Amino acid sequence: MSDSGKKWVKEDPERDGVYWPNENMKERAWLSDPEIYEKARKNPKSFWAEKAKEALDWFKEWDEVEEWNPPYFNWFLGSETNLSYNCLDRHLEDKRNKAAIIWEPEPVEEKERVLTYQDLYREVNKLANAMKNLGIEKGDPVTFWMPLIPETAVAALACQRIGAWHSIVYTAFSPDAVKDRMKDAGSTTLITADGFFRGGKTMKLKEKIDKVLDEVDAENCIVINRAKTDPDMKEGRDYFYDDITENEDAYSEPEPIDAEDTGFLLYTSGTTGKPKGIKHSCGAYAAQAALTTKWVFDLHPQDIFFSTADIGWITGHSYTLYGPLLNGGTTLWYEGSPYFPESDRWWKIIEKYGANVFYTAPTALRALRKEGDEWIEKHDLSTLRILGSVGEPIDPDTWNWYFEKVGEKRCPIVDTYWQTETGGILLTSLPGIGPFIPGVAGPAIPGIQYDVLDATGEPLGPGESGKVVQKHPFGIGMLRGIYEAHDKYVEEYWSEYGLETYFSGDGGRKMDIEVDDQPLIQITGRMDDVLEVAGHRLGTAEIEDAVSELDEIVEVAVVGEPHDVKGEVPAVFAIAKSGNDTEEGRKELEKKIMDKVRERVGPVASPGAIYFVSDVPRTESGKVIRRFLKGLVRDDELGDMTTASNPGCLKELAEKVNYEGPEDIVSFTT
Ligand code: WT7
Repeated sequence: MSDSGKKWVKEDPERDGVYWPNENMKERAWLSDPEIYEKARKNPKSFWAEKAKEALDWFKEWDEVEEWNPPYFNWFLGSETNLSYNCLDRHLEDKRNKAAIIWEPEPVEEKERVLTYQDLYREVNKLANAMKNLGIEKGDPVTFWMPLIPETAVAALACQRIGAWHSIVYTAFSPDAVKDRMKDAGSTTLITADGFFRGGKTMKLKEKIDKVLDEVDAENCIVINRAKTDPDMKEGRDYFYDDITENEDAYSEPEPIDAEDTGFLLYTSGTTGKPKGIKHSCGAYAAQAALTTKWVFDLHPQDIFFSTADIGWITGHSYTLYGPLLNGGTTLWYEGSPYFPESDRWWKIIEKYGANVFYTAPTALRALRKEGDEWIEKHDLSTLRILGSVGEPIDPDTWNWYFEKVGEKRCPIVDTYWQTETGGILLTSLPGIGPFIPGVAGPAIPGIQYDVLDATGEPLGPGESGKVVQKHPFGIGMLRGIYEAHDKYVEEYWSEYGLETYFSGDGGRKMDIEVDDQPLIQITGRMDDVLEVAGHRLGTAEIEDAVSELDEIVEVAVVGEPHDVKGEVPAVFAIAKSGNDTEEGRKELEKKIMDKVRERVGPVASPGAIYFVSDVPRTESGKVIRRFLKGLVRDDELGDMTTASNPGCLKELAEKVNYEGPEDIVSFTT
């Protein structure tokens, strides 16, 4: 705690708004010598082999470090390890009584729970045995619909212990979304809670999921009795966690898992209506999660790491759960809403536990900023050393506010760019090396290669915007494919520039500033039909498919419309069948669209705007030209308007969305 209030950064005397780690930080940081980039670049294989040995205990050493058969690559071939063993067993000798998870429940009258490594170990072993009794085995997919409660960590680690694959679905996705993901993975086991608390309300889960359990012929449903709502339980299928673990043995041998066996599945939205089951490896994923936690958040043994990311997202997997535990650290979890009971709950939590690292999304920062600085000023945040941002570009204004108000100009901000597919952070400035620039993520981490290319595949120079790609050596913990969808894997990531270049879907530009020859990269946002709503990834096609199910709708197109807090929200352009055009009919239909999206995708995808239009711009072949719709809602340029076969419709659209962009649509269309 002697670090309290220390300064960790200094401003560049020559360049305004560029910060560097100061001596305090350099002395403290695990990585402070920029030469690490050069060392990793010279021999990435031996670099990663050395680091992976440092990061994990391996039951069996590998025969080969890496094998690359574009577009697939494997690491640490022939080796065996176990994620649960690495998060728990190996820490027992010297950290048995250390806090592994500190959990803050939302209701203020409820006390926090602290699980030591020993506590967590015991629970995980018991549940692993209980799961084996239910017939769950290595290689079985197990779907979770779980809130942020300690049992979620227990269940994930129990899966890892026996080699089952968890597939965690965010609780703000709908039961239908859970069903689709269970079906795709062939999963017959669901782990859920009866309910949880958010915003002062009891959010019921078990009751809502019952319909789905019947529809997918689920064999097992394990229920954590979190909110004590007394849910219906079906005999022989539904089990309370407490009942099945109570008399279990507190040891279950950790299964040796091949490094390239699947560690887990996590579904994410792509450019088609069907979510993709991103497949992660067991060994290299774990090594990457462990190492990036240590490097990027500079996690030290006594640190408390507060990540606000829900377990339903990859950030929740890699940095709320696995990364800190792999390092023997303490991870701080909060169940509920940042506004409950008042808008200072997160700041209160940081003060209460003395958190050292705080990791959140720009959308949350923008929203909390609107609540007023007085909520922050009431609290002592001097224990913070590192601030992190993730999920979407952070605008310089929000960056500066975060830096000044939350970090009191003492803490570096690591703007971490990555994706569900990359498994871990791959682009960011490192705390002990820097630099930290508002709105700029940073260089690729040591040992991997990012670039920005033009349409022909040529690397671009500083300042020019293009497509953000990864080239060999790729992040060791990158996805190993999409579950049972080879063609989709190739099409989504390896088709833009061929099988040796991974296209992220993002646009970006290099800066005229480098660290040891690694250019800093600024991410500008998605270039495909994927939205980032409040840092949550959603596919426009999924929302369109949902709306199309309504009989009243002839055609629908969805694009992201800018939003001052959420970054963007889905804007729905709908062509309704005639007969729905009275004001009342429209209102009703609007509600139907809302309800349908909530039912099929989830509340997280609720449209921010619905425009009823008589036509949408199309190509000669009838394909909707989303570029125009995007330009219209963004008050941006539209590009060549003559490519539309029906440019006349642009006038109506421009009026509907109050277009104030540079194009003169009226004179073009009349
Ligand atoms: C997309 C991935 C990575 C965990 C959370 C989101 C955007 C992510 C940043 C950042 C600018 C970012 C990208 C990316 N994104 N981090 N620091 N700066 N954009 O994971 O749901 O898989 O979404 O989020 O567009 O492709 P995800």
